[in-house]
Amino acid sequence: MGRAGPAGPTDDESARFAAIVEHRLGLTFGPTDRARLTQVLLQRTTARQAPTVSGYLDSLERSGEELSALAGALTVGETYFLRQAEQFSVLTRTVLTDRLARPDRPEGAGPRLLSAGCASGEEPYSLAITMRDNGYPNAQIIGLDVNPQALAKARAGRYTSWSMRAVPPAVQRRWFDQEDGHFLVKPSLRESVEFRPQNLAAADPAFWQPRFDAIFCRNVLMYFAPAAMAQVVQRLADALLPGGYLFLGSAETLRGVTDDFELCETDGCFYYRLSDSPRSATVRVVPRGLPARRPSGPDRESFGQVLELLRAERFAAALGVIELIDVPAVPPRSLWDTEVMLVRAMLLAHAGDLSGAGRDAHRLLGRGGAVAADAHGVLATCREADSDERGALLHWNAAVDADPGFALGHLHLGRLTRFGGDQNTSDRCYERAAQLLTSESERRVLLFGGGFDREALLSVCRTISRAGRS
Ligand SMILES: C[S@@+](CC[C@H](N)C(=O)[O-])C[C@H]1O[C@@H](n2cnc3c(N)ncnc32)[C@H](O)[C@@H]1O
Repeated sequence: MGRAGPAGPTDDESARFAAIVEHRLGLTFGPTDRARLTQVLLQRTTARQAPTVSGYLDSLERSGEELSALAGALTVGETYFLRQAEQFSVLTRTVLTDRLARPDRPEGAGPRLLSAGCASGEEPYSLAITMRDNGYPNAQIIGLDVNPQALAKARAGRYTSWSMRAVPPAVQRRWFDQEDGHFLVKPSLRESVEFRPQNLAAADPAFWQPRFDAIFCRNVLMYFAPAAMAQVVQRLADALLPGGYLFLGSAETLRGVTDDFELCETDGCFYYRLSDSPRSATVRVVPRGLPARRPSGPDRESFGQVLELLRAERFAAALGVIELIDVPAVPPRSLWDTEVMLVRAMLLAHAGDLSGAGRDAHRLLGRGGAVAADAHGVLATCREADSDERGALLHWNAAVDADPGFALGHLHLGRLTRFGGDQNTSDRCYERAAQLLTSESERRVLLFGGGFDREALLSVCRTISRAGRS
């Protein structure tokens, strides 16, 4: 007679299993996934030939190997080549141009890229293809994942046509050989990617050192519990070089998780840039029960449109679109709410609704630091629109007190003090603005640059401060 399997898990055992999975893998499961979790618990107990579920749970708490097997059973490895192709194009057109032009970059150092949660390898190989096709043959690319079966498949580099569905035929021919209806990554490309087993939820200070120009961590964080996600984001920040870039999946956001990154947008593609000097060494952990507010897809799309309309100085149209985004009428608690409220405040100021703009700006003041500086910038704009130059001056002074790195704050101080006849102070402010402008965020240039781009603003500051010195 066959050996009877273990009895099904009790509610307490299922809850203990969920707690171990969250603690050791960072993964969280909602009530609708509980049946699947219980099924995996029973399957793994049987596969490990543990006499009881409770005995299996004891061994799981000790064993790293079983944890990896579990990750394979619990995570979704769905991926394909050149997924969200616009991100690869932003990587070469914008991100690497910025990274390679940095004055602190060692001569000849090629791009260093990480695919975190690389599944069966399509993402890091897509990075490798992008690097080779765009003239970066010396790029270094690492793919990591907690699932050893997925990594074995990645190293083998053998894929079905389903994985290739977004790859143009010319790229297929260049980088893949065909064999038995499968696509094999060409050896030269395969050799350019290093795969390593790594659990994002586990501390490993030796690995998480600043070394990458950009990290792709897409469609991974969405499975993480809020506190674990905050820790992973801190690890990713630790692994980026100053000013390095982070790409997330389209349903993922850092809003409400950390202030160390700024949101960037190019042609409707959103991504993040690590501040050159992150404001906090630790990530703000979002407590359980108060999840980070995640914008819906339509809200993110609308916000992209708002930024485009703002860039084109179509303020009324931008205001019409931003009104569609739901933002609570209270001081914002997440970065997403903060950003939307700030942009809305500036649009209201441009449209002449100074009391609406002031109301939003006062809600933002409470967040302190750089956000308060931006809020003072809005209030200064309102004062000036009301022909109150003195009030505007007070708010621009408060803005640079709140954030001394606010280049456009110094620039407006330079403009207003010159207007008031204080040329010495004005020259100093323009000089300071010129020093800071190259690292000013795109968002601030857009909001407070008066319709000028960075280059034009820089040239104004340099010309005026040079004239002041001569
Ligand atoms: C949906 S796939 C994403 C693949 C690829 N990044 C993409 O966007 O196409 C999610 C991957 O995250 C990995 N993953 C989940 N938890 C992880 C952890 N704690 N550490 C490392 N990888 C993890 C899973 O094994 C899976 O391969």
